[in-house]
Amino acid sequence: MCGIVGYIGDKQAQPVLLDCLSLLEYRGYDSCGIAVSSRSIEVYKDAIRVAALKKAAPKLSGKIGIGHTRWATHGAPSQLNAHPHLDCTGRIAVVHNGIINNYQQLREQLIGEGHSFTSETDTEVIPHLIEKHYQGDIIKAVEAALAEIDGSYAIIVMVAGEPRLVAARKDSPMVIGIGDREKFIASDVPAILNFTNRVIYLEDGDIGVITADSVKVKQHQAEVTRTENKISWTIEDAQKSGYEHFMLKEIHEQPRVIRDTLAGWMSAPEPILDLEAVRDNGAEAMLMLACGTSYHAALVGKYIVQELLKIPVRAELASEFNYYGQALAGTMAIVLTQSGETADTLRAMKRLKEAGCRVVAITNVVGSTASRIADQTIYTRAGPEISVAATKSFIAQLMALYWIMLSYAKIDASRLSSLTAELRQLPSKVQEVLDNQDRIAECAKYLAGFKDVFFMGRGINYPVALEGALKLKEISYLHAEGYAAGELKHGPFALLGSKTPVVAIVAQDNTHEPIVTSIKEIKARHSPVLAVVPEGDDSVEELADSVIVVPQVEPLFSPVVNTVALQLLAYYTALQRGCPIDFPRNLAKSVTVE
Ligand code: F6R
Repeated sequence: MCGIVGYIGDKQAQPVLLDCLSLLEYRGYDSCGIAVSSRSIEVYKDAIRVAALKKAAPKLSGKIGIGHTRWATHGAPSQLNAHPHLDCTGRIAVVHNGIINNYQQLREQLIGEGHSFTSETDTEVIPHLIEKHYQGDIIKAVEAALAEIDGSYAIIVMVAGEPRLVAARKDSPMVIGIGDREKFIASDVPAILNFTNRVIYLEDGDIGVITADSVKVKQHQAEVTRTENKISWTIEDAQKSGYEHFMLKEIHEQPRVIRDTLAGWMSAPEPILDLEAVRDNGAEAMLMLACGTSYHAALVGKYIVQELLKIPVRAELASEFNYYGQALAGTMAIVLTQSGETADTLRAMKRLKEAGCRVVAITNVVGSTASRIADQTIYTRAGPEISVAATKSFIAQLMALYWIMLSYAKIDASRLSSLTAELRQLPSKVQEVLDNQDRIAECAKYLAGFKDVFFMGRGINYPVALEGALKLKEISYLHAEGYAAGELKHGPFALLGSKTPVVAIVAQDNTHEPIVTSIKEIKARHSPVLAVVPEGDDSVEELADSVIVVPQVEPLFSPVVNTVALQLLAYYTALQRGCPIDFPRNLAKSVTVE
């Protein structure tokens, strides 16, 4: 939920840390700070964004440093709660991403032992615990401190005057970047891509000792080897390339994402997932689990499985499943997570494994924690997604689901080949939606004048209504609710009227007629209707106040074009309202807390 970074090498650390931090802001941005070490440690931190810190910070001299950008959990955003945090002597500095569950108890114990605290954070217990255990060997002190901690963490520890950094992780991501006579540590690869594309992924339980010339990794006191990986995408892929916002760039990348995502699988000799076992085991067949936007992909996935495989399937919110959910041994569990680091999803994965399920992760981040827990991982090829609002990663998840299920579809051969052919057309269909963005921007201008918006869809487009509403609320701050069209009359109708527009998704399947009926009922209550309609369908032209036309596609694939239209609608509404689109308030890209 926070971003952490470390540098050791022959450059001055401060500019490197600030550069990396600005690429980590998507993980949290309510405060930030850096600490640089030479003989002593100097810290500069505040409840401001990285750009402001760059201007405000004095020159801190030293070639070793750590930095942090925060998404507050314990204690409000403030100068004192910002990281890095120090021990009592001011000689041990720590940055942390994660949550310490037993921090209250540790804090009281440490205060009883004479330590004094300056912040309200859970993190601050870490430097104090290290101080308590430090007897000249920082690695032993970190190991002893971590043994007392219950929780999740990626930490970097720096000691004044010591020419090394110590990094450790448990349930929070961390990579080490390898350069010539310099090393980097970060929560995520894009943060360090300006400097190197050679990375080592630390695993859960690893403790890394990093000097300018070496990386040593220990697990349970024993030295282990972690292989070096070369990142194939560039910093350009992770930057705006002339677009005003990452979100718009990422929306526009979707034709390429669909093409890339499908290309590898279509040419593969084997199906990417073996579903034969699912058919044979006779237990509950399939369970899909995720959070947020990825959950909406899971809901679409449920319709795809029902239509193509005709087997029983459930889609569950990971956060609910963790308290009430059950799964039978032998169930195939497909877990969708863009980041591969969502705490609720990771916890659900562990529960599923304990229950004896076969867990398959669909994720966009190579080496993510989800990929380590899963029995099998399928990588989407969306490339780095920086904007907090998920767009291209969602479409890539849908592509994975379409392709997997088509590989095992229980449908006749001619329908299968026509669906496969249609799937190949999706990049150009999505391009047509993008080419229509001026019209969508006009509709967004109109929508931006309201306070409350309903989205409605039916069947496979019901999750699209949920996703359209989620996108609108998170980036434009308008109150938006997604509904199954048939449910509006069971309560929400009380809110309809001229000030409550409804965005209606019209599909050309068996839901067409009831959706048109719903639109008529809504118009009778004087609500403005903005309809998303396939080309050539003029059934709502007279009824709707505005229409966004999307290309004709096979109804099974309609969530793709409809979602892209709604992403643009949300984007332009937020633009019209002057919102900070890529970094919406209170949100973070990777939700590593439960
Ligand atoms: C919304 C959004 C979130 C994420 C959710 C799960 O635009 O991005 O709702 O979808 O936090 O994240 P992942 O897919 O990383 O598990």
